[in-house]
Amino acid sequence: MTTVDENPGRTNTATIRAIYPEMPGKVAVVTGAARGMGAQFAKGLAARGVHVVGGDIDDVAMKATAERINAELATDALVEQPGRVTGARVDVTVAADHEALAQVALAEHGRLDYWVNNAGIFPFALAEEISPEQISTTLDVNVEGVLFGAQAAARHLGEGGAIVNMSSVSALRVRRGRGAYCASKAAVHHLTESLAFELGDKGIRVNQIAPGFIDTEMTQWIKGDPEALAKALDNVPLHRFGAPEEVLGAMLFLLSDAARYVTGNSISVDGGSRHV
Ligand SMILES: NC(=O)c1ccc[n+]([C@@H]2O[C@H](COP(=O)([O-])OP(=O)(O)OC[C@H]3O[C@@H](n4cnc5c(N)ncnc54)[C@H](O)[C@@H]3O)[C@@H](O)[C@H]2O)c1
Repeated sequence: MTTVDENPGRTNTATIRAIYPEMPGKVAVVTGAARGMGAQFAKGLAARGVHVVGGDIDDVAMKATAERINAELATDALVEQPGRVTGARVDVTVAADHEALAQVALAEHGRLDYWVNNAGIFPFALAEEISPEQISTTLDVNVEGVLFGAQAAARHLGEGGAIVNMSSVSALRVRRGRGAYCASKAAVHHLTESLAFELGDKGIRVNQIAPGFIDTEMTQWIKGDPEALAKALDNVPLHRFGAPEEVLGAMLFLLSDAARYVTGNSISVDGGSRHV
């Protein structure tokens, strides 16, 4: 498998920060930020001066990730005045937990500007065998988790605020054994459009990112199955996994003022796989 540079944005962090001059001092909530793309979003935002409240059901990992990011940015010669990352526990299926995250952001920083609904699960079960518990849990985390996050964001983001939801190429392309997941991400796709329509009244934008295969814990299973891996990569026009860092650029753009007339939209970061 072709690999990518561990941190392709590394050499131009300062340049990218200059592209989004409005970001320093702003405050973001990122769910599912203990690892994977959520951790990358937290770090990428903090590197640009945004304070981040990262929420995850795995609060031990979340706090460790927050400490690691703060330590790394404090000694990064390319990063001036990074934002602070705070780790907190959240179960995104519980509406009150989202409000608690918002309150942490307001108590620590006095404002809230961005909300990233990133937490998700990726269960396997053939459609004929999906249990009531599996479908409920998948919809609870992947769909209700997004809705409850957006509700909390709608209460606290002001005009110019931005929400980004994590959808998937699986919202458009089905995968064997992922019926519950595909259905949940298709729901996120439509929910994003509904939220954009309604929250536009408050000047809040709502967009989504639809990743393809991104190299995180969620996709490690496929590396142990060479046949499935070869088939999967054959169906990616760029023939490799994406790195979490390669999704960050789309996230920053959608949150930023550069996207101030973009809402209800989806950016695919999938190596072209939605076409195959
Ligand atoms: N990795 C991919 O290839 C891929 C592709 C398309 C979409 N996505 C989506 O992107 C998002 C991030 O994916 P990732 O690959 O970084 O995943 P990941 O598994 O690496 O991280 C997901 C995080 O969400 C947390 N989480 C799970 N349930 C939670 C809950 N109830 N409350 C709070 N936190 C919870 C986990 O503890 C974990 O830290 C997900 O929504 C996923 O569906 C991922």
